[in-house]
Order: sequence, then structure tokens, then C-alpha cells
Amino acid sequence: MSSARKIRLGVNVDHVATLRNARGGVGPDPVRAARAALAAGADGITAHLREDRRHIQDEDMKRLRELPAPLNFEMAATEQMLDIALKIRPHACCLVPEKRTERTTEGGLDVVGGRERLAPFVAELLRAGIRVSLFIEPSLEALAAAKEIKAPVVELHTGAWCHAIEIGETEKAEAEFARLRAAAAETERLGLECHAGHGLDFDTARKIAAFPQIVELNIGHFLVAEAVFIGLEASVRRMVEAISQGRGA
Ligand code: PXP
Repeated sequence: MSSARKIRLGVNVDHVATLRNARGGVGPDPVRAARAALAAGADGITAHLREDRRHIQDEDMKRLRELPAPLNFEMAATEQMLDIALKIRPHACCLVPEKRTERTTEGGLDVVGGRERLAPFVAELLRAGIRVSLFIEPSLEALAAAKEIKAPVVELHTGAWCHAIEIGETEKAEAEFARLRAAAAETERLGLECHAGHGLDFDTARKIAAFPQIVELNIGHFLVAEAVFIGLEASVRRMVEAISQGRGA
């Protein structure tokens, strides 16, 4: 796989909806944010319809689906979410673990322990022509299980690495980075498409973009936070630049 291959950027607009919901009104509109992100060079839009609907609402998903860009629908593996996904028919679904008490998706899916439960969701979504990815820890065991249940794509959880950097735990950050590197290399050996995301900022996105196996990054919170200071289009544009620098393109 050539390292010159472009990395797609999926912009996650969940936290635009978080801000809107803080006042219970109509703005800021995540669909308007999605349009701005696409105008600034994003390749697709990502949104997570959580079971508690704390940010993205069902109607947002429908409207995001109407945009002329790939929609990556993040969802828990539940019957209710599967029904919604099969109605909306997004370009892609990313299966994620979900706990009501967490602030964000804290860890990867337990694919090893949950393979029998997850396999039918993967199969059904693929049958509907939807690309399926599994959001996993960068572990060889999780990758092997993802392959076994025939998921064509995995998204490596970069949260532990990014958090270690944020709190200045250098050794832990280095160990997490090495784990991500090994996992990305393993995706190539297994023939899985490799994505990554969670907690990325300009610097960490630049660094991880250097892994030749990665073809897509999904980034949300940092872009929306940065938008408060420089605007969403500028924030996305700078991210596109950081990713191309990292890739050496
Ligand atoms: N990828 C997945 C699967 C996620 O669950 C999230 C968070 O919703 C992200 C990427 C984006 O993470 P962040 O908002 O920290 O950039």
C-alpha cells in the first residue's frame, strides 16, 4: 500500500448537536456544520445516534443522509439501531460500544467476547450494501476477531494514545503509539481496511497519518472546539493540511 494514498477525513458533527441541545432550539445546526466541513475539504460526515439521543437526533441523521457526501453512521449493535440504519441506508456504519454513563466512547468494542452477538449485525448491514467498520482497541486479538466475523473495516481507537499525550504521560503515549503502529500493520496482513479516530488534534492526526495503512480518520470534538476560535471551515482546512503533511503528500 503506498503511503502517498490519500487519507479521507470524516468530520464528526455530534458536538455541534450537543451545543444546539444545550438550549433545546434549532441552532447550531449539525447539517449546516456538515456542509461547512465538506466545503472546507472533508470527505465525509460522521455522526453517532446514541441510544439516549444526547446529541444527534433521528431527524439529524435523515438530513445528513441527504447531503451529497458519504455518511458514516456510528451506532451501538442493537436491534433498534439496526432498524434505523437499514431505513436510512448510510454509506457506512461503524459499530461502537455504548454505555449510558460514559461521556464519550471510552473503549473499543469487545469483539473477542462479543463475536457471536456482533456477527449478525455485520452480516445484515453488509447484505444491505452498507460498509461496516468495527471500532476496536489496537490489539491483535480484536483484529483477529474482527476478521473472523467478516468485518471489512476496522477503526482503531486512538483515545488512549491521545489522552496520554494530553496529560504528559510520555512513556504511556509511546507504548500506545507502538500498539497503534503494530495494529495498523496487522490490518494489512489480514486484508482489513484501516481507519482511526478518537481524541485526535492537529498534531496527533499528523503523526498517525504517517501510517501507510490508514485510509480514513474520523475527527469531531477537537474540530468543533477549535471552531469556537477560528471557525469550522478554517479548523477543517487546517486538519486537512495536517493530515496531508503527515502522509507526506
Ligand atoms: N470515531 C468513533 C468511532 C467515535 O465514537 C468518535 C467519537 O464519537 C470519534 C471517532 C471522534 O472522536 P473525537 O470526537 O474525539 O474526535
